[in-house]
Amino acid sequence: MKIPSSDARVHLLNEQSDVWSIIREIVNKTNQEDAFYVMDVGEIVKKHNQWVSQLPRVTPHYAVKCNDGLTVLETLNALGTNFDCASKGEINKVLGLGVEPERIIFANPAKPSSHIKYAASVGVQNMTFDSETELHKVKNLFPEAKMVIRIRCDATEVQCQLGNKFGCDPITEAPELLRIAKSLDIDVVGVSFHVGSGCREPPVFRRAISAARDIFDYAETLGYNFNLLDIGGGFPGGQGTTIDKIAEIVNLALDTYFPDPSVHVIAEPGRFYVSSAYTLVCNIHSIRNVIHTDKETGSALTHRMYYINDGVYGSFNCILYDHQVVVPQPLDERPGAKYYESSVWGPTCDGLDQVIENAMLPDMKIGDWLVFEDMGAYTLPVASPFNGFPIPMVHIVMEESIRLLLEDMFELTDSHFEMLTIPSNLNNKDDSTSKYTLPTFPITVGDSILDYVAME
Ligand SMILES: Cc1ncc(COP(=O)(O)O)c(C=O)c1O
Repeated sequence: MKIPSSDARVHLLNEQSDVWSIIREIVNKTNQEDAFYVMDVGEIVKKHNQWVSQLPRVTPHYAVKCNDGLTVLETLNALGTNFDCASKGEINKVLGLGVEPERIIFANPAKPSSHIKYAASVGVQNMTFDSETELHKVKNLFPEAKMVIRIRCDATEVQCQLGNKFGCDPITEAPELLRIAKSLDIDVVGVSFHVGSGCREPPVFRRAISAARDIFDYAETLGYNFNLLDIGGGFPGGQGTTIDKIAEIVNLALDTYFPDPSVHVIAEPGRFYVSSAYTLVCNIHSIRNVIHTDKETGSALTHRMYYINDGVYGSFNCILYDHQVVVPQPLDERPGAKYYESSVWGPTCDGLDQVIENAMLPDMKIGDWLVFEDMGAYTLPVASPFNGFPIPMVHIVMEESIRLLLEDMFELTDSHFEMLTIPSNLNNKDDSTSKYTLPTFPITVGDSILDYVAME
């Protein structure tokens, strides 16, 4: 894989640098005006380490919809994760990386016929369903498919609900659907659910796993022998979040309801892997100060309106579609600064294009930068260049040890490392100061590079 052109620059982090210092270098040493991202590959590696150590029985199938950047997909492929695709286009993209079709689940319960035909033609057999019509489509178009019934079990508190659209009722609908599948001679192999994206109620996983157990048992009475449990997504991924509680509940529920190790357990995390890996940096290009009267004191107040060069039609679509709360941080430290009532607006001519209605910010000037962390999930894949404002480019950063770990997979050459902070010992793979034990490249298919990564 070649680093895609939009991701053309790779910055190496060393002990003196981090994402914020790289951002400062970019804005200070280049003629930067457009908004841009900094994507830290090491965050994805760190997340995968956490997953493997906390959910050892659960194979992650990364949900491509969340962020389909090639660097993300290549890194996850190199780490050995599998993939959840929602469409022909996503399957095509993942297969293009050299991923075997058996490592993909087509986890969209309502698929256009042409997409089912495509899955059949490339051998992606595992796919979800939650309706009778989907079973008839599959019977006609791909009778060899291995179907996974998606049941509904919603968390009470989520960032984005999904159960309103997908998932059959485990009690009133699932048994009938399984009977129909049996009568059509369709091979149903397991159960899936998705508790909702950005789940804030970890115990829901126990309820859902228990409901899945009941369906495994019912299916057995029909002559099925299910062997796949797909616990979906719902895992948080922002800085400061953890999957500790969910992992504890999932592991216990698996021990209770699925002690048989022959049941293969998978999940479809998206947000978890990418959220914290992306930091967005936006430039203030215009300011409007609006005087208004304080209702309580009657005194005149100034509300500062800051216009930045990315908005809800671009990366901040996540505010509308993903119910994301974004937090602006001035790039420059301002110790002792006074904070003022402010709002932040995107660059387009639409009044809807408001990024933040109310924030307390120091006095900002035109040309100053605002930094938004945790911008990796459901941002770039949905962004549009509406009104002619470009979608921000991505600068990739990684620690030297990670670069050494991944360089053969990325086919990186020194020319990719155009900018800044390149240590002189870059090519020394045997660097004894490296945090990681390096494998002999290339790593054979099936091996995970995590076998070689020192756990934190
Ligand atoms: C079927 C499916 N799987 C996985 C995901 C990813 O879940 P999350 O956003 O919780 O990581 C989604 C999100 O919409 C989804 O629809």
